[in-house]
Amino acid sequence: METETSRQLRQAIERLGPWFHNFHLSEGVQTAPEHFLGDFPLRKWVEIADAIPQDLTGWRCLDIGCNAGFYSFELAKRGGRVLGIDSEPLYLSQARWIAGQLGGNLRHQPEFRQMQIHDLARTSEKFDLVLFMGVFYHLRYPTLALDTVAEKVNKLMVFQTLTTEDPAQELPNFPTKDDYPITERKIFNERGWPKMAFIEKSYSNDATNWWVPNHAAVEAQLRSTGFEKIKRITHEVYFCEPPAQGVRKRRIWEEEEWASATGESRQERL
Ligand SMILES: C[S@@+](CC[C@H](N)C(=O)[O-])C[C@H]1O[C@@H](n2cnc3c(N)ncnc32)[C@H](O)[C@@H]1O
Repeated sequence: METETSRQLRQAIERLGPWFHNFHLSEGVQTAPEHFLGDFPLRKWVEIADAIPQDLTGWRCLDIGCNAGFYSFELAKRGGRVLGIDSEPLYLSQARWIAGQLGGNLRHQPEFRQMQIHDLARTSEKFDLVLFMGVFYHLRYPTLALDTVAEKVNKLMVFQTLTTEDPAQELPNFPTKDDYPITERKIFNERGWPKMAFIEKSYSNDATNWWVPNHAAVEAQLRSTGFEKIKRITHEVYFCEPPAQGVRKRRIWEEEEWASATGESRQERL
């Protein structure tokens, strides 16, 4: 028989829905028990949790597209001071409600802020750990966002994206050369050439899915944006470290394009 507490929890969950993140609350109540990806994102978290430092004391963390804050709370449990950003106010309301449910036993409660990923270009703060998970393929301007995010990373970025590849049949990366003549077109159709699939209409009932890369394209973009140590730790998750001096070493025409697109003048940056 349902208790008063669980009835109230279910009502609040219903009022704040729909949910993408499943949380296990008291009395066995869950926020998204019927999730199409299973117990999500706990399922994903267990794949990466050991690779993230257990003690994040003193670490400033950024969770981009934090949704209801599952990862933000996990980082906070490890002592990190977390900023979770998301463009969708509904998810941020869920995150703030979850903060109340989890109780006040965190050293630092995560802060949740409504922000577009591209707003980061107009902020100066840097972060020791950045989670950029489950957002890249939702962006219409993904490489612009990646260039912006890369500049925010002091130590580690955890990057996750939907890819075009079936985990059981991954393509070998095609060894690209430094240059090709303009008459060379066949090369783009070689298996494993870096590619992004464009979705004009909808994918998985979601019209906010735009660009889906293969692994070669993910790795090429991470390298091109300036990350040095790039390690895929599970099917679609990459751990990326910037060089000691940071990733600000784009060629001048990229710098200008980025500055123009983000509204930051080149003078301010040089
Ligand atoms: C698929 S969910 C991923 C949530 C979480 N990061 C995870 O991996 O479980 C995508 C999240 O990104 C947010 N999002 C999508 N586009 C965004 C944008 N341009 N700026 C900020 N957040 C965005 C969505 O509102 C949603 O919460």
